[in-house]
Amino acid sequence: MCGIIAYRGKRTNAGELVLLGLKKLEYRGYDSWGVAVKEESRVKNQESRIFVCKKTGKIGELELKKLKLPAGQLAMAHSRWATHGGVTQRNAHPHASCQNRVVVIHNGIIENYLPLKKKLMKKGHTFISETDTEVAAHLVEENLKKYKGKVSREVFQTAVRKALNELKGRYAFLFMCKDSDVLIAARRGSPLIVGIGEDSEYFVASDIPAFLEYTNRVMYLDDEEMITIGDQHGFMNIQTGKPIEKRVITIHLKAEEAEKGKFEHFMLKEIMEQKETIHRAINQDEKLLKKVAKAITQAFGTYFVGCGTAGKVCMAAEYFFSNIAKMHVNSVFGSEFSSFQHFIKKGSLMIAISQSGETADTLEALEAGQKKGARLLTIVNVEGSSMDRMADLSVHLNAGPEKAVASTKATTAQLALTLLLAYCAAGKLNEGRKVLVEAASQINDMLNPRYEEHILKLAQQIKNVESMYVIGRGVNYPMALEAAIKLQEVSYIHAEGFAGGELKHGPIALISKGTPCIVLVSNDDTREDVLSNAMEIKARGGFIIGVAPKREEVFDYWIRVPDVGSASPIVNIIPVQILAYQLAVLRKNDPDMPRNLAKSVTVK
Ligand code: M6R
Repeated sequence: MCGIIAYRGKRTNAGELVLLGLKKLEYRGYDSWGVAVKEESRVKNQESRIFVCKKTGKIGELELKKLKLPAGQLAMAHSRWATHGGVTQRNAHPHASCQNRVVVIHNGIIENYLPLKKKLMKKGHTFISETDTEVAAHLVEENLKKYKGKVSREVFQTAVRKALNELKGRYAFLFMCKDSDVLIAARRGSPLIVGIGEDSEYFVASDIPAFLEYTNRVMYLDDEEMITIGDQHGFMNIQTGKPIEKRVITIHLKAEEAEKGKFEHFMLKEIMEQKETIHRAINQDEKLLKKVAKAITQAFGTYFVGCGTAGKVCMAAEYFFSNIAKMHVNSVFGSEFSSFQHFIKKGSLMIAISQSGETADTLEALEAGQKKGARLLTIVNVEGSSMDRMADLSVHLNAGPEKAVASTKATTAQLALTLLLAYCAAGKLNEGRKVLVEAASQINDMLNPRYEEHILKLAQQIKNVESMYVIGRGVNYPMALEAAIKLQEVSYIHAEGFAGGELKHGPIALISKGTPCIVLVSNDDTREDVLSNAMEIKARGGFIIGVAPKREEVFDYWIRVPDVGSASPIVNIIPVQILAYQLAVLRKNDPDMPRNLAKSVTVK
């Protein structure tokens, strides 16, 4: 959930370097931030120090320029998404032990921190934050107690390993000690990637773009692994201490892809990229698609699992498979999966849909399914992510880095790929490709400045409303839920999505004069019914915003979408993405980093 980065190498501006890298990870959390630099000792034999600076809020450009960091070749930085303890400077990372001897940075949750904290306090340790993290710094310091002054690489490593073995929960950790020149990183459940630069230069971060301008050669830390980085590195298993060999992988990702370029916000850039990303998502190896489709048709029960937006795509998958392949598949939110795991057995198939491949709830569902013998398949955007690596079979969305917290291009890529799989399972791969290629070309025509202006006019008209609603039928029902998420997370307007037919069973009581209601319409057998539902809302004073291929009488405001047959949920969600973005900007919200959220939710 938090962003972490460290550097160890020959450069003497390590502090500055990690903070610039951290800016690129801010999408992972932006409540507060902090940096630790192992200071170069100017006087021989002088005791070394770790400089620590922490602040609340996002990292401001100006603040960065003003910050006076000491020179140093070893540094680490953190941007936080608060879990334990409020958003205060004290609770910001890095956290230090009593004597500032050990400094740590952490992403995840330590479940047993309270008993450990009590035990350490009895031994005389003083805690200054409310976080679960601080306990790790004190534990390592306790393990180093009998060693005075400089400690060897092995001693520091053993002290960290012993501490890690006492911790319960999920984590990605970075450790520094003022009496050692070594950096230690460890992982259980939260991502950590090691970048290998030139000349014994190392980077460790939660995501590759943080160091991509320096190197594209990486090694992945897996669960229960730690790495000790001095002039050379060594991986080992945290529990057993046994050394581990790792492969260096070259990543083919361009640094510019992860930049905003000419756009003011990542969200807008990513919306516009949908002109190409649908093509990239469906441009898959035919053999792989057929293998996946076969796995689905032969499975003893298929479960699509995802969270948030990806969870809504899983719901859409139920409709796609039912309508196109005449097959029943299940969809479950990652966080709800434990109630359904009883149905999983050998022969069951779980398909995780995820942009990041790191969402803790989805990962936990996969782990539970794996234990019960399910086959695991993943549809992810981030190659090399935890889900990607744990799957028996993995398909990549190829949408390029998605940095804005609100998912846009990854969502439509997920929809396109899932729809294509439904066609493939029905033995109609070519037909599916044709539908999607046509949809992609229509999206290309649709995303023009005039279209944006038309939606902006609507945004200006409704920007001060308190609530709005979205309805849809059939596959437009999960899209209505997704549309509501988009509006909620960036505009902060209360928005809810409903199945059109459900309105009359309760929610219609919420409609009063002028309440905006978006109606998602497809030119299929749900059209008439959803238009009747729109009439019912209009009769109660609602302001009807139609997203539809044709202007209908009931609409007060019409946003045209192309008629693309079964791909219509893909085109229907795009104008809502644009509307949500424009409402956010008009309401002076930051669409890329909305309040209380983080891009990658690596806590339960
Ligand atoms: O990385 P994932 O696709 O697994 O993320 C799942 C959700 O956290 C994510 O879709 C979230 O709902 C987005 N912010 C929605 O825009």
